[in-house]
Amino acid sequence: MNIQITKPKVEDAAQLAKICKQTYTEAYGYVHQPKVLQFYLNQSFNNEIITTSLKDEKHQFLIAKVDGEMVGYAHLFIENKVGHLERIYILRSWIGKGIGKILLQKIIQVAANKSCSSIQLSVWTEDERAIEFYKRAEFEITSTKIRSYNNEKYNHFIMKKSFPLS
Ligand SMILES: CC(C)(COP(=O)(O)OP(=O)(O)OC[C@H]1O[C@@H](n2cnc3c(N)ncnc32)[C@H](O)[C@@H]1OP(=O)(O)O)[C@@H](O)C(=O)NCCC(=O)NCCS
Repeated sequence: MNIQITKPKVEDAAQLAKICKQTYTEAYGYVHQPKVLQFYLNQSFNNEIITTSLKDEKHQFLIAKVDGEMVGYAHLFIENKVGHLERIYILRSWIGKGIGKILLQKIIQVAANKSCSSIQLSVWTEDERAIEFYKRAEFEITSTKIRSYNNEKYNHFIMKKSFPLS
């Protein structure tokens, strides 16, 4: 398996938007009402918003490719020396094959190279696989918060990893 982790270009926006929508739907599509899901996908992953983010240094993306096919991505937003891991998603058919771990290590390295003092994220409290995935990378739960998707509300853990990297 030839795994490549690279920084996407602005020209990759449409393909990135597509994988963003597909991976989100695969992971969480079942929990939302269909209308809420469609609204969320269109609002979060339209070509314009992805293109704008790709041009903005505060937003750092990495994509994972296997034998040239895009299979996952990570999105980091940097503000006040804190890296916010907004997303890390692998296509369903590629989950559990070690790609997420490599992608996470690389995006942590991006945060460190951009002089972040820590990296944090929020994860749905019911998502045991993702929570375990982050714990294995030495993220710790620091607090909880409620995230709203239209009229739907979900409890999230805030998880944090402080630098220097261990
Ligand atoms: C979470 C996600 C990014 C992890 O990527 P992945 O490629 O599946 O994970 P990997 O195969 O690299 O596994 C990394 C580590 O997590 C562990 N892990 C993976 N799935 C697990 C599970 N179901 N239970 C326990 N541990 C698990 C692996 O054993 C591995 O640990 P190790 O290195 O100590 O052996 C991926 O599963 C995914 O995209 N899930 C759906 C979207 C999602 O939940 N994103 C995060 C939202 S906050």
